[in-house]
Amino acid sequence: MKTFYVTTPIYYVNSLPHLGHLYTMIVADAVARRKRQQGIETFFLTGTDEHGIAIERAAERNHRTPKEQADYVVGYYKKMTDAFGLDTAHGGYDIFMRTTAPFHYAGVSEFWRRMAKAKTPKGREALYKGHYEGWFCAACAAYKAEDEYAPPANAGEPPTCLIHETKLDRVSEESYFFRLSDYDEALLGLYESRPDFVQPEARRNEVRSFVRGGLQDLSVSRVNTSVRWGIPVPGDPQHTMYVWFEALTNYITAIGFGNEQQQRAVGFEKFWPALHLVGKDILRFHAVYWPAFLMAAGVEQPRAIVAHGMWVDPDGRKMSKTLGNTIELDVLNKYFSIDAIRYFCLREMVFGQDGRFGYEALIDRANSDLASGLGNLSSRTLTMIQRYCAGRVPSGNISEEARLSAKRAGVDSDAATISSVVEHARDEVIRHFDNFAFSRALEEAWAIVAHVDKMISEAKPWGLAKDESQKQTLGAVLYRAAEALRWLCVLLYPVMPNSTSGIYQQLGLIGDPSRLDPARLKWGELAEGTQIGEVQPLFPRIDKAKTMEEITNQKSEVRRQTSETTQASIGPNSSGGLGERGISPTLREGAADGALARPLGRAQSLDAPATATEAAPGAEGVANLIDITDFAKVELRVGEVLTAERIPKADKLLLITVDIGEEKPRQILAGIAQYYEPEQLIGRKIVVVANLKPRKLRGYESQGMLLAASVGEEGKPVIATFAEDVPNGARLK
Ligand code: MSP
Repeated sequence: MKTFYVTTPIYYVNSLPHLGHLYTMIVADAVARRKRQQGIETFFLTGTDEHGIAIERAAERNHRTPKEQADYVVGYYKKMTDAFGLDTAHGGYDIFMRTTAPFHYAGVSEFWRRMAKAKTPKGREALYKGHYEGWFCAACAAYKAEDEYAPPANAGEPPTCLIHETKLDRVSEESYFFRLSDYDEALLGLYESRPDFVQPEARRNEVRSFVRGGLQDLSVSRVNTSVRWGIPVPGDPQHTMYVWFEALTNYITAIGFGNEQQQRAVGFEKFWPALHLVGKDILRFHAVYWPAFLMAAGVEQPRAIVAHGMWVDPDGRKMSKTLGNTIELDVLNKYFSIDAIRYFCLREMVFGQDGRFGYEALIDRANSDLASGLGNLSSRTLTMIQRYCAGRVPSGNISEEARLSAKRAGVDSDAATISSVVEHARDEVIRHFDNFAFSRALEEAWAIVAHVDKMISEAKPWGLAKDESQKQTLGAVLYRAAEALRWLCVLLYPVMPNSTSGIYQQLGLIGDPSRLDPARLKWGELAEGTQIGEVQPLFPRIDKAKTMEEITNQKSEVRRQTSETTQASIGPNSSGGLGERGISPTLREGAADGALARPLGRAQSLDAPATATEAAPGAEGVANLIDITDFAKVELRVGEVLTAERIPKADKLLLITVDIGEEKPRQILAGIAQYYEPEQLIGRKIVVVANLKPRKLRGYESQGMLLAASVGEEGKPVIATFAEDVPNGARLK
């Protein structure tokens, strides 16, 4: 039996995932599903990269051990993959690889030992001990050449990483080196002999010119006094393996290289070589270092390294926690279906190029391509079969005698035209999909949608239904539409597994399209008489204005709360029920991972912008405990609500006036209107942040804010108050 192995990068555990990480998983998942449909036994790996100095530091900041830090972030990944249907239970990954797994230690050690014995293509030892002197970026986990860092602003300070804008570490220590410089010709030969080894083409060219520019030997260990959190070098435990060396090796240890456990469970020979899907940010590690390591260890090269572009913000900056411009998974999870997100990611990003992610664009695509496009085609076809054919798939044939009437109605009497259109589109979808041109593939699939829509509009089945002599014509039109839908379900299953399975069932078919190879589809195999299922809408239309307002409010609310004050304290370890589709509030809080000392409310964490306290790569060296003097900067005062009213056209805001012991009452806008009636508030003693900069909202100036706990999944506000009588204006300290 044919096998196939696909991998995503294994992600760092110093910060929580965002859309960028999800994206590579979605691509890998779609590829894996397509292979499974073809009957190919597929192994899909994703996981986490858990060692190294950046994780050590993140753990320290969070008052955790490195393993606790890893477990914490892995917990989030597991919830996330469950919520987005990417885990094993949903037909997604086969292994969630963790580099702290003991079998990985065993496998990596074996890999090292092999390299230690190896000779380079130029006949020298592949590994040697030397002395390293240079700059290292913890967040990149990479040594930096002169053109990769910016000189320091002040003399005596270290330079800064051009990617993370953080200070580099000076490393001057004994180190093992991998003699990469001896592999240039071998690598160029590899790229030459296997043009598909690095894809897409533009990336291949980049890699080739990098190698042609000359390779330097690579430091592959650190002394364990500078990096403790890692795997010791076999036979020399004073040294810890370089994290990239060890992380790349996960792709083979996971399936059994150098360890019995995975060898028995999966089988190295069975699945290797893999197709590595990566972001272009880490292409060099995969397309240069990894192949050279494999050459040295005498292991077969990967099937291919396929690099996608980056999701960037409207200013073209790569989405990252450090820059605070991420699309948070909690927001996506709350407002959009899994399939809409998958469709959007694959349709919108031209694979290999950078893509801009915008909620508006996502809503537009969900409404036009899904709700009005495929969704509408499916529901109108099925509803008409329900109505005009007693819920059974009609015959698609038009007899000799009925041909004339069909012609009169403008309907082709044989199905050759539509079947050839659909077959051609199917071939194109497959061709593009297999070349990772997902966007083109989807365009082709939507050509089928457009074609069938046009056929229905022109044939007007509702008119045919009124004319008994057109019964066969009506049947043929509806049959063709239903059959095209069946094809679409099979073709689109890898991209939208849930909704295509839904349509498939509504068509009255058994099972789902997960094991049907689109290449084997034959026009006309939808059986006449099939009883269709209950027709249900699968792509609800999204109210754009309302959803955008909610998302914007949620984001600004989060920002406001994060930057201005705190809410009720729920630590990252507090328990909570499951969120919308399974990301628990606990983990939503964790979205601001690293902020242990910062009291967290749920809303804060939903889409918290990166703050100094986030354990993002690059947020190094920032303590997350505040000093009492920091707290003293916030002026909290007791206030009494004098008036409260709703604001026209703002269903979330109440306008209140509060006496905080000053000459004039303060006017405050509070986002609590959905939970409190104005009358309930009058006379209440509340806590007011009195020294916030005033700001204008909906034309009203807000001169402070009130404190409230954020409770439950919805973040219901519960206003902080006092059990005893307190005078207005009393300070909280
Ligand atoms: N741990 C290494 C990889 C080791 S693989 C042996 C690492 N981890 S990471 O957490 O930084 O993940 C990087 C990967 O996440 C990218 O290559 C890409 O797959 C994904 N993305 C992270 N941000 C992204 C975007 N803004 N856009 C698209 N994908 C992004 O590097």
